Amino acid sequence: DFGEGIMRFREMIRDIPDFPKKGILFRDITPLLANGLLYQQSIQTLAEFCNQCQAQMVVGPEARGYVIGAPLAVVTGCGFAPVRKKGKLPYKTRSASYALEYGEDTLEIHEDAIMQGQRVLVADDLLATGGTMSATIDLVQQLGGIVVGAAFLIELKELGGRQVLLDKIPQLPIQTLVQYD
Ligand code: PRP
Ligand code: ADE
Repeated sequence: DFGEGIMRFREMIRDIPDFPKKGILFRDITPLLANGLLYQQSIQTLAEFCNQCQAQMVVGPEARGYVIGAPLAVVTGCGFAPVRKKGKLPYKTRSASYALEYGEDTLEIHEDAIMQGQRVLVADDLLATGGTMSATIDLVQQLGGIVVGAAFLIELKELGGRQVLLDKIPQLPIQTLVQYD
């Protein structure tokens, strides 16, 4: 437990109005990442959750999902598997399409990234509509992985992503460190 440290995550997230499009309030985590202690504390907190979920692998979508997912894998001893936007992965892939707060895309994963029955924690910087994480979960499930938890730094509650994930996997443990109403 980091006590007061937890509260400081929110102070280090910068709001950028109208980025990348008019009407979007962008929650910029780069000030938090620049603070080594806070970044470490955020990963440690999510790592405790990852351990509680008894995950064996962490899967995160590019690009900001790597900033959370990869260090989470390292500190927990899990493996890491990258999910990438279409056309970037070199080996045989599975794909899933999704919509997000400001656009639409296709995500891919290597077909050998997850073994049948492996316990997987999915991780990203931010949960908004849940579109990105829904597609990421689809990819893990296509490979026979068991999604045992979902971890994020930030949750934008009004966009309803949590319920989207719970509709996919009832009672999925979901951890978010900073929530915005
Ligand atoms: C952002 C963010 C999440 C996603 C959340 O990624 O990092 O992955 O949007 O939105 P959703 O819950 O509505 O899907 P973005 O697609 O902007 O890509 P980036 O990480 O490469 O910047
Ligand atoms: N991804 C989706 N919506 C976002 C937002 N409002 N801020 C930062 N990243 C996002």
